[in-house]
Amino acid sequence: MSTITCIEDLRRLAKRRVPKMFYDYADSGAWTESTYRANQTAFEEIKFRQRVMVDMDDRRLTSEMLGQQVSMPVALAPTGLTGMQHADGEILAARAAEKAGVPFTLSTMSICSIEDVAEAVSKPFWFQLYVMRDRDFVIDLIDRAKAAGCSALMLTADLQILGQRHKDLKNGLTVPPNLTPATLLDLATKWRWCFAMARTKRRTFGNIAGHVKDATDLSSLSKWTASQFDPSLSWDDVKWIKARWNGPLIIKGVMEPEDAERAVDAGADAVIVSNHGGRQLDGACASIEALPDVLQAVGSRTEVYVDGGVRSGQDVLRAVALGARGVFIGRPFLYGLGALGEEGVSRCLEIIRNELDISLALCGLRDIADADLRILKPGS
Ligand code: FNR
Repeated sequence: MSTITCIEDLRRLAKRRVPKMFYDYADSGAWTESTYRANQTAFEEIKFRQRVMVDMDDRRLTSEMLGQQVSMPVALAPTGLTGMQHADGEILAARAAEKAGVPFTLSTMSICSIEDVAEAVSKPFWFQLYVMRDRDFVIDLIDRAKAAGCSALMLTADLQILGQRHKDLKNGLTVPPNLTPATLLDLATKWRWCFAMARTKRRTFGNIAGHVKDATDLSSLSKWTASQFDPSLSWDDVKWIKARWNGPLIIKGVMEPEDAERAVDAGADAVIVSNHGGRQLDGACASIEALPDVLQAVGSRTEVYVDGGVRSGQDVLRAVALGARGVFIGRPFLYGLGALGEEGVSRCLEIIRNELDISLALCGLRDIADADLRILKPGS
């Protein structure tokens, strides 16, 4: 563990341990992947002002996200198929997040179900909702999340239609993997993954299996899922979803000020500036570049978060200094999970916390609440 010092170390180890099909699923973006790359490189353009000779003792990273105390302004983003990066992945990640004092968000497309995760943790987690054509299914999901004690609902707005990822098509991504000669050869070198997967019963979409007539018929499950994303989703839907949920609602995937305004008007308690980690509209700008305009439009009316490309505590500090209430991380925790299971997610969060703490001090601050544009070079 002492040789794992940054998120990149976790990524490299995950690449060695996770079957290629699932590693590629995580570590890819849509089409040319230009937005995927831009999400990370845009952070590098934001420069800090290094300050010296200020008292840096006794520092504080604690914050609040959606009324919840957090040990640092970081949360785990919803990611589909997390239980394919490592057996029982959603449960392990939720436990690591709970231990670290940061929110965990469970995806609709998870392998472990809402109830599996609720049983494994003691504090409420957040649930991410995809709106499917089958509205009874959506209503049932909302009710299940409520019954499981989830404390916030995150409605993803940027996946009415699926962006294309070349790697997934070329790999013939299936859940669980089809045992072709190529996958068998790959699995032969990923014995840790196979061993853990053999010991769990959770090998398909936990939230959905119950809705398909024959859940053991995996091709009908995959077909049902693929045909269910609803291209007709609109702002009107937010009203009934909010009414049914009757609790804190986050809208994820807002990149433009006018959409942020509509989200708030429709009843969002928070918005996440996000381009889905570069997995949807290739050619969209980096999410951190979209943050300032969204903040200007709705920052005084709602909490604004950002995700996409955060790979270090320095990136968290940059986002918070620009005005984000907090950030969500996707791939960094997936790399940790694929590399080392729960311990890997904990290590990911520890690395980010340590980097955030030291960088805050080197900017001359002791409390993350004081981080604002003054710690950034003008024009950053
Ligand atoms: C995602 N993301 C995502 N978002 C969502 O709302 N529901 C989902 O099921 C998924 N699934 C998913 C799978 C994988 C493998 C990835 C990498 C991402 C998007 C995710 O919540 C988040 O917006 C991005 O991951 C943020 O970018 P970074 O941190 O991965 O760069």
